[in-house]
Amino acid sequence: MNQLTEPSFSKAEFGDNFVWGVATAAFQIEGAARTDGRAPSIWDTFCEKEGAIADGSDVLIACDHYNRLEEDLNHIAGLGVNAYRFSVSWSRVQPRGDGPWNEKGFDFYDRLISGLEQRGIQAHLTLFHWDLPQALDDRGGWLNDEAMDCFVVYAQEICRRFGHRLASICTFNEPWVISILGYEQGVFAPGIKDRSVAMQVAHNILVTHGRAMRAIREVTPDLSAGIVLNMSPIYPASDDPADVEKAKIDDGLIVRWYMDAIYHGRYPADVITYLGADGPMIKETDMTDISEPVDFVGVNYYTRNFSSTGNPWDVTSTGNQVTDMGWEVYPDGLCELLCRLNDDYNVGKLMVTENGAAFKDVLEDGQINDIERQSYIQSHISATLEARHRGVPVEGYFVWSLLDNFEWASGYEKRFGIIHVDYESLERTPKASSLWLTEYLSGES
Ligand code: FCB
Repeated sequence: MNQLTEPSFSKAEFGDNFVWGVATAAFQIEGAARTDGRAPSIWDTFCEKEGAIADGSDVLIACDHYNRLEEDLNHIAGLGVNAYRFSVSWSRVQPRGDGPWNEKGFDFYDRLISGLEQRGIQAHLTLFHWDLPQALDDRGGWLNDEAMDCFVVYAQEICRRFGHRLASICTFNEPWVISILGYEQGVFAPGIKDRSVAMQVAHNILVTHGRAMRAIREVTPDLSAGIVLNMSPIYPASDDPADVEKAKIDDGLIVRWYMDAIYHGRYPADVITYLGADGPMIKETDMTDISEPVDFVGVNYYTRNFSSTGNPWDVTSTGNQVTDMGWEVYPDGLCELLCRLNDDYNVGKLMVTENGAAFKDVLEDGQINDIERQSYIQSHISATLEARHRGVPVEGYFVWSLLDNFEWASGYEKRFGIIHVDYESLERTPKASSLWLTEYLSGES
């Protein structure tokens, strides 16, 4: 078996009500991109752009989850988790993001939720995991008030149909990634490189989030609703005051921009000054909309970051392990982040909605002994427990990801799954990390 030292945590210490889950996103696993009336999203379009995806791949098949739903539900159940986080492909249930609904699309999510119910697994639904219907983007996307209104209608329709069967709903997954990687750096869909556009998108998404929260409450007042943010502690790369200042601004852009707006109804003043003319246009009621109370914030944590005004930070310089994404393994950062969110924002409830790692897997004799991923997950579960010991109301932990999948601009080259996917045969093979998780969740670890 493995060489790890005993993990310094016990499942019992999390209590019986803790949410243990695995997470996925529609675009990354479903495939069936042109089946049963689904229309393209901005990510389908982005895949067609020369050089946009590292391995030139697309999601016509992906993990073929759409056609292998029952098998995948059995895998989820086999893990012993009590929760599953998934997203809805908006252009599957409403091809143009506006106008007619696609019943076949809803049927798929109905089957998915029924399958979870039959297996006693909670459904945690994300409304938007980056796949904006292309038809809406053609009309200006997140820069157009119409798209914002359409999202609210979509959110209400999902709640009307499924709300009573969900354990939680989240409006947006990682607005920082959507806006900065998609509209400032241009490395994610839709591939725009303009900071002022990016900040306007970041703002409009937050406004849309707040309005959707209100709309969700109208339809399903008892449903736990929130937003998922990617966050990490940010340190200056050196004592140089310029690096210290940069770290503060970067923290402002990634953490405080979203948390201050949602919890305090204002953007951080230092970031507004820093952005200058690139700052967003803010309408009178926007900040009231954004600060509509949330039931929880989902935290997606993978690594910490260093800010430097000179040479880019050398990720190997700490001597810590680095994943296949080039991300430092730093579990203490998760505990630090959770504690900080609790101290600064008095958050009612947090959930770790994504945490996991890509490593190069070797399939040997039909087995994948992914000891590094297993140890990554263990150390971050341990960090989550430490945060709970320190009084932070973190009430769930979801592994990213159930399956190897389409890792956005990296294509299929980066594998985050605790279950291996052979992209030729589409065969699923549980990795050692998933076998360990099952054992841990059974309480026998
Ligand atoms: C997060 C995304 C998720 C996955 C992981 C590795 O930013 O939410 O879809 O790609 O990173």
